[in-house]
Amino acid sequence: MVPASDFSRFKQAPMVMATGYDFPFARILEEAGVDAILVGDSLANVVLGLPTTRAVDMDVMAVFVGAVGRGAKDTHIVADMPYGSDADPRSAVANAKRFLALGAHSVKLEGPKYEVVKALIGEGIPVVGHVGLMPQTAKSLRQVGREEAEKEEVLRAAEGLAAAGVVAMVLEHMASDLATEITRRVPVPTVGIGAGPGVDGQVLVLHDFLGMHAGNYPPFVRAFADLHGAALAGAKDYCRAVRTRAFPGR
Ligand code: KIV
Repeated sequence: MVPASDFSRFKQAPMVMATGYDFPFARILEEAGVDAILVGDSLANVVLGLPTTRAVDMDVMAVFVGAVGRGAKDTHIVADMPYGSDADPRSAVANAKRFLALGAHSVKLEGPKYEVVKALIGEGIPVVGHVGLMPQTAKSLRQVGREEAEKEEVLRAAEGLAAAGVVAMVLEHMASDLATEITRRVPVPTVGIGAGPGVDGQVLVLHDFLGMHAGNYPPFVRAFADLHGAALAGAKDYCRAVRTRAFPGR
């Protein structure tokens, strides 16, 4: 397991991060050898079918952090702080400690919440930052950093988070040149999702990169498997076998 204190190694070699939400896939991701599993609040969308990540709270996230903790005991687990759970330093620390007790090794939070980050680090809790598109508060899903003013704002946030002591930083859905510039400027590894090739590592949503949907993938996603196709074929085969009495057989 790569502890957060060793994340600096991912400034040299690409970090592989994947989201994971449940016990069986946590085991698969661990066996595959990912460097870190992010229990993302994207589970609101891809697991629970909810329209926004704001719909999940600490109690919901805790169920999934616990499941991943039981499934991947030797892999670094990053728990995503759900909307509102990091609103102030005191509650952020209490909530993050709850995740650590369930098996997480670090927490991720969206945006330049410097005081919260410092309070968490002060309690010995490693923090992964997140800039660019921030789904908890974004007004649109468009790419971030096309205009100069916005670019400057994101750069400032990334540098501020690095100065506050984050161990790594997710750069989500931003212009490739901006992601490359952040990666050059900050001393911690950057982990991109829809941020181009100039970053230190990549993170993708499990259901996207394993092809679990029938369609509708974000433009930057590559599906490395077709689990939707495999599961559909298996489920159809099961229906056929029961209806023709081929299963259970004798
Ligand atoms: O919740 C999540 O899955 C994330 C990734 C998109 C980085 O924050």
